[in-house]
Amino acid sequence: MPMMWLFLTTACLIPGTLSAGGFLDFENKVNPEVWMNASEIIMYNGYPSEEYDVTTADGYILAINRIPHGRAQTGQTASMKWPNMTSQG
Ligand SMILES: *[C@@H]1O[C@H](CO)[C@@H](O)[C@H](O)[C@H]1NC(C)=O
Ligand SMILES: *[C@@H]1O[C@H](CO)[C@@H](O)[C@H](O)[C@H]1NC(C)=O
Repeated sequence: MPMMWLFLTTACLIPGTLSAGGFLDFENKVNPEVWMNASEIIMYNGYPSEEYDVTTADGYILAINRIPHGRAQTGQTASMKWPNMTSQG
């Protein structure tokens, strides 16, 4: 008999958990940037992005992203600005 109660309790709790959105909303709550590469993250945030491959003297190929101007400006490149380095990992 205790097994029967355990089964009934579980059977009642599972639909409650699903309809409360605990499981089903999980994918919607994850930040979409998690699945994007660097260019996509830059463009997702409203900036223009240029992608370059740079080969180092010892043969490594590095992917470099350039943000040529801010969100509002169109076309004109920033005059004298410092590069800002970001890296993954
Ligand atoms: C990032 O994603 C964009 C759009 O899918 C693609 O064009 C670009 O080549 C990707 N960049 C890298 C470094 O994978
Ligand atoms: C580079 O970006 C970071 C993060 O947005 C900011 O805190 C920092 O001041 C920036 N550095 C320069 C030199 O602009």
